[in-house]
Amino acid sequence: MSRYHETYERWKRDPEGFWAEAAGALDWVSPWQEVYARVDGLDRWFVGAECNTCWNAVDRHVKAGHGERLAVIYDSPITGRKAKYSYNQLLEEVSTLAAALEDLGIRRGDRVIIYMPMIPQALFAMLACARLGAIHSVVFGGFAPPELATRINDAKPRAILTASCGIEPGRVIAYKPLLDQALDIAAHKVEACVIFQREQAPADLKPGRDHDWEDICSVARSFGRKADCAAVKATDPLYILYTSGTTGQPKGVVRDNGGHMVALRWSMENVYDIRPGEVYWAASDVGWVVGHSYIVYAPLLQGATTIVFEGKPVGTPDPGTFWRIVSEYGVSALFTAPTAFRAIKKEDPDGNFIRKYDLSSLRTLFLAGERADPDTVKWAEDMLKIPVVDHWWQTETGWAIAANPVGLGMLPVKHGSPSVPMPGYDVQVLDEGGHEVPRGKLGAICVKLPLPPSCLPTLWNNDERFHKSYLSHFPGYYETADAGYMDEDGYLYIMARTDDIINVAGHRLSTGGMEEVLAGHPNVAETAVIGIADQLKGQVPVGFVVLKSGVDRPSADIEKECVARIREKIGAVAALKTVVVVPRLPKTRSGKILRATMRKIADREEFKTPATIDDPAILDEIRGALAAKGIGA
Ligand code: COA
Ligand code: AMP
Repeated sequence: MSRYHETYERWKRDPEGFWAEAAGALDWVSPWQEVYARVDGLDRWFVGAECNTCWNAVDRHVKAGHGERLAVIYDSPITGRKAKYSYNQLLEEVSTLAAALEDLGIRRGDRVIIYMPMIPQALFAMLACARLGAIHSVVFGGFAPPELATRINDAKPRAILTASCGIEPGRVIAYKPLLDQALDIAAHKVEACVIFQREQAPADLKPGRDHDWEDICSVARSFGRKADCAAVKATDPLYILYTSGTTGQPKGVVRDNGGHMVALRWSMENVYDIRPGEVYWAASDVGWVVGHSYIVYAPLLQGATTIVFEGKPVGTPDPGTFWRIVSEYGVSALFTAPTAFRAIKKEDPDGNFIRKYDLSSLRTLFLAGERADPDTVKWAEDMLKIPVVDHWWQTETGWAIAANPVGLGMLPVKHGSPSVPMPGYDVQVLDEGGHEVPRGKLGAICVKLPLPPSCLPTLWNNDERFHKSYLSHFPGYYETADAGYMDEDGYLYIMARTDDIINVAGHRLSTGGMEEVLAGHPNVAETAVIGIADQLKGQVPVGFVVLKSGVDRPSADIEKECVARIREKIGAVAALKTVVVVPRLPKTRSGKILRATMRKIADREEFKTPATIDDPAILDEIRGALAAKGIGA
């Protein structure tokens, strides 16, 4: 029998009592005056309390006598490197790095950007900032310099921590030139850069500004310097994580300290069913929210062992990599994006690599980041013979809005659904007028306010955009921007975004942002970017451009330049490989581009020609242009 229903009801009856009880599992420097309060128009948790997230993720376990327990396992099939860190060693690394950062002048409240590949030092950096009460902002390594510069200008960091390079299959990506370019473009001036030198591509350092990571740590060590945990307010920001909005300007999602650690630790026990000392592996990247929550903070807050994996599900060296890791380290739960499983299934459809390894430790597979298509879920179930749990969440929430809570006892699985709302989330499906729609009917998925602990209290330095983006459309609710429905049993089905965000290989990208970049090409008059269905990545972007009159250059050249431009300005992660020059874009009579209709043509879905279309003949032009690229034909 699952305890889900009684737990959800318990939360609904007394939300503050529920979260206060959950908070009891953690250490607090001083207690809260109010579990929940509205402060300056924002919803806040554990108001008045002081705490430190790093203390709870690291020191607390050492103090409790678990210092010898494994905290971090690093496994890098891409370099052949492996390493293990106990909680004692993690404390040594983090408190030394924090002291070195202190020596560079980093103080509580300062922002620090972390632009790093999947190496343990990325975790040390995040935890060292948390220790000092500095606010980290991790930028995914696949973003190009202009994206990094945008984040530098918004977060105004005092320092940037980076590595000399990242490694992708078949190529080493020197980070230092990317960092230098970003710093050249950015208006905000950064005082100090700390570079972790990797042998694959050591970087030249700029005297005065750049510091060698190992050197500054050695200096701190030689003076026996270790930084203590700063007492911060529970409501102080722990980090800012930028995520795609509807324009090229990303949203700086703020995460606080107190509510975040309470919700994440609760989720480890009740959603993921992980006990202290067990090995938990989220195969993602620290640049994404999954990495923040479930590579770094949640497993460590629970005293579990986390894995830092520098590789891909396939090709490093084969589709058995995940299974090698599970068997080598005795992983109890694996969390990844469905796209990783589609990649594995494509290369190993019969599961020959799966059978090569002892996977008896693995109890559950968790999927999130994009819609888990039933075919992929069924394949994983058949191959692994364990429960496959889809769960739904967003950068904004930091943990699952809906899941099948394994720790509370699993509910029946329904393919295509991430199951039921978690305690803290009163999820309602609304019509345009803000009224709940009947069960089974499609609508806008919203969460009745207040949002639970860990969810964003606001956007960095932009309360106004926070209110406008999330709270204004449906007063009294948080708008998730996902559309879907709830069935008779209270299971949610997440069908599509209601904005122009697309999901490419589990990565959230803004088509609006890509359109802004394409519009900057000197020959381009108008653009539209849509996300079309892709067997491996779920969706991939396709760009359409209309040229300025009088442009007399081969279309193929302009298309190539547009593809390159997205890579230069946004990064390889945008995965835009197709841009088509078209004579016109289909529009309504009032001038709105009919992106949804274009997407349906590309995906070969049935559609009705919109009654408001200006000129239906344009749809045939679009069909022809796509067919010439082998799309939708
Ligand atoms: N630094 C620099 N470049 C990066 C990068 C990084 N950290 N991560 C990805 N890229 C590059 C890739 O090399 C690729 O470049 P290319 O166009 O030259 O080939 C491009 O960005 C797109 O990357 P990706 O979308 O990851 O595609 P892929 O073809 O390399 O791999 C999968 C496909 C499915 C194997 C891969 O997307 C994957 O492992 N996904 C797992 C899902 C995941 O981690 N999601 C995160 C949220 S849970
Ligand atoms: P991100 O903020 O990058 O985590 O992306 C969040 C978005 O990814 C959500 O708003 C959804 O559109 C999508 N998403 C995440 N998890 C799921 C899921 N389990 N099922 C369907 N869509 C999902």
